[in-house]
Amino acid sequence: PAPGWAIAADVVVVGSGVAGLTTALRCEAAGLRTVVVTKARLDDGSTRWAQGGIAAALGEGDTPEQHLDDTLVAGAGLCDEEAVRTLVTEGPDAVRRLIATGARFDESAEGDLELTREGGHHRRRIAHAGGDATGAEISRALVEAVGDPTPSDTRARGIRTIENALVLDLLTDADGRTAGVTLHVMGEGRHDGVGAVHAPAVVLATGGMGQVFSATTNPSVSTGDGVALALRAGAEVSDLEFVQFHPTVLFLGPDAEGQQPLVSEAVRGEGAHLVDADGVRFMVGQHELAELAPRDIVAKGITRRMREQGAEHMYLDARHFGADMWEHRFPTILAACRTHGIDPVTEPVPVAPAAHYASGGVRTDARGRTTVPGLYACGEVACTGVHGANRLASNSLLEGLVYAERIAADVAAGHADGTLHARVPAPIRHPGHPAHPLLPPEARFTIQRAMTEGAGVLRSAGSLARAADRLHHLHDEAREALHENGKTSEPGVDTWEVTNLLCVARVLVAAAARRAETRGCHWREDHADRDDRAWRRHIVVRLNPDRS
Ligand code: SIN
Repeated sequence: PAPGWAIAADVVVVGSGVAGLTTALRCEAAGLRTVVVTKARLDDGSTRWAQGGIAAALGEGDTPEQHLDDTLVAGAGLCDEEAVRTLVTEGPDAVRRLIATGARFDESAEGDLELTREGGHHRRRIAHAGGDATGAEISRALVEAVGDPTPSDTRARGIRTIENALVLDLLTDADGRTAGVTLHVMGEGRHDGVGAVHAPAVVLATGGMGQVFSATTNPSVSTGDGVALALRAGAEVSDLEFVQFHPTVLFLGPDAEGQQPLVSEAVRGEGAHLVDADGVRFMVGQHELAELAPRDIVAKGITRRMREQGAEHMYLDARHFGADMWEHRFPTILAACRTHGIDPVTEPVPVAPAAHYASGGVRTDARGRTTVPGLYACGEVACTGVHGANRLASNSLLEGLVYAERIAADVAAGHADGTLHARVPAPIRHPGHPAHPLLPPEARFTIQRAMTEGAGVLRSAGSLARAADRLHHLHDEAREALHENGKTSEPGVDTWEVTNLLCVARVLVAAAARRAETRGCHWREDHADRDDRAWRRHIVVRLNPDRS
């Protein structure tokens, strides 16, 4: 449908987690007319679920160089070293600026930041808030800063926010330069229905795609909308095969679906043990860091042990913390466990891996620019090169912060030197386009099951081919319905979300099938070894942009 309304801005930021809101605050501080659009409420999305914290070389004796080394090791040969260097050197100041914006981190009695450890870190360098509620505190501080300028703030225009706004597609001009986005908005008064924000700079900060799998730590809004939009717009997408499975997600039964409670790595960082049903610490001897090995190694260790023993889960044992430590250091996790009838103070917690983080995404350079002029990507939706084949724990909030600041600086510079200026949009396209027919809402479960069975923690050529077939079939059904009977699903958030899930799932499966090796969080049963000769490279995908 053609947009029923349009507003103009200098920059539109899509998404309202740490990446989106930091970008918006910095753009607005640079004097740009800034619009934030977000699919649900401003504080929905993954950021507020982050537990463990934010990694940066802030502790005594720690250095960006050591943080760099740990990040490169976790990334298994595929990190872009310069991108990581930027992350770790600019990271500490970015965290200090976040604190200046209002985020309150946990401190010792002496007023120093309390730092914890997580998998793959050789040092304590993870700052946290509210014990295990770091993301919630960051989200609170940023939402407050966006909505409630301080008296000293000299902003002239403020940040305009539109909630309940699902982004559909990128608008471009006749030369293929960014001209804005189309949106489907519900319940926001004047800006209801399908509309557009016209802007020469669009920043995708839409988060991840965990919902392509049945069980994930991601909230229900993480449906790969930004990656799907970028693919339809003809931007390059990279490393989608590297889906990180968090090793310790509360096990709620083999058929549990949707968002599952996370049990932070920080619990292991503070000394919890991973044990099997016999109480054996099976990670000891597998890696010098045992339970604190990089996340992919621990997820594989757990999966292997589960297969060997025919078990549905392993256990995380932190009874030795005692009630006080559980209550003060991990109140969120304690409450989630107790809600499900498990008391970590007196019993080991059943855990199993679940989909957690997309290490790949929309390919960007050091300034967050994608391959489409005027289109930027920031945070989980982006592939800046910092994560390689496996993100290091607690580097994601940091990446959102650091690259948001770089993007804002680049957008401001583009406006100042005239490279970014208003464009006239070419005719729109949207997921109802014949190349991307809208899927019925119930297809979500078919996609999730196909992906979990075929492209989960452990993959093979056969399992991936079966997943690809099922996805292909769904696509064909929707296409036939549209072409032969002129039928398509009713446009709405659920049908667009499923359409986006299918789009990203198909690219993910194709990339995973091509990468005939095991590396980082991509684990192939039929290609058990890392193959640096053939595969120390990225799989980059670019679809032809659709034109209607
Ligand atoms: C956790 O708290 O274990 C999650 C940290 C992360 O995903 O970086």
